[in-house]
Amino acid sequence: MSKIIIAIDGHSSCGKSTVAKALAVQLGYAYVDTGAMYRCVTLYALRKGAIKDHSFIEEEIIKLLPGIQLHFQFNPHTQSNDTYLKGENVEKEIRQMIVSENVSKISAIREVRTKMIALQREMGKNKGIVMDGRDIGTNVFPEAELKLFMTADTDIRTKRRYDELRTKGQEVSFLEIKTNLMSRDYEDSHRKENPLLQAKDAVVLDNTELNREQQLEFILNLIKNLGVSLQ
Ligand code: DC
Repeated sequence: MSKIIIAIDGHSSCGKSTVAKALAVQLGYAYVDTGAMYRCVTLYALRKGAIKDHSFIEEEIIKLLPGIQLHFQFNPHTQSNDTYLKGENVEKEIRQMIVSENVSKISAIREVRTKMIALQREMGKNKGIVMDGRDIGTNVFPEAELKLFMTADTDIRTKRRYDELRTKGQEVSFLEIKTNLMSRDYEDSHRKENPLLQAKDAVVLDNTELNREQQLEFILNLIKNLGVSLQ
């Protein structure tokens, strides 16, 4: 089999993007972090003052959509893609707590999803892509050759996120992060439009006790079993 689509869905902060990035490098595939796209829309809405005190009017967000241009660009220093909003590198800003606190509600708006999903399908039309998110295997690419559903214990996920944000110099508490993860998981799984669900044909990867290498080995074995040539 030649190039395939690898769809990785799962809970917040369970290491989807870490594994997806490593996999893309190993396979020589493109990598797309779809969460970053919803974070960009949220950041833009915050900057435009359309989200105030965690509330917004849906119509106002929808009106902003035509003004949003985003793209990914490879950063040789980090060996991964940075996210650009209207030509500006917003990779750091989209990871801030204020964005995390609002992104689930913004990503539940149908018109926001329609725009992002169209972009995602365009990016994956030639295959050879690893895409992570919440609805990739169920909705964006239901025909993906390999689907993974990732999860991990909530405290472990919180700890990993806590360490990551602290390393980046963000002042956040363990409890604040845990509350955010749990509420995002709930909102992402219970929304009307393309909720987070495990696709029927997805392979579950619980990485609570697995390191990065073990996860990669697990996935590469699945890929080999599909008859896809590894570089
Ligand atoms: O992967 P992440 O935590 O950066 O994603 C941020 C949010 O974006 C997540 O809480 C829900 C939303 N999202 C989505 O609705 N659909 C996707 N395919 C990816 C992310």
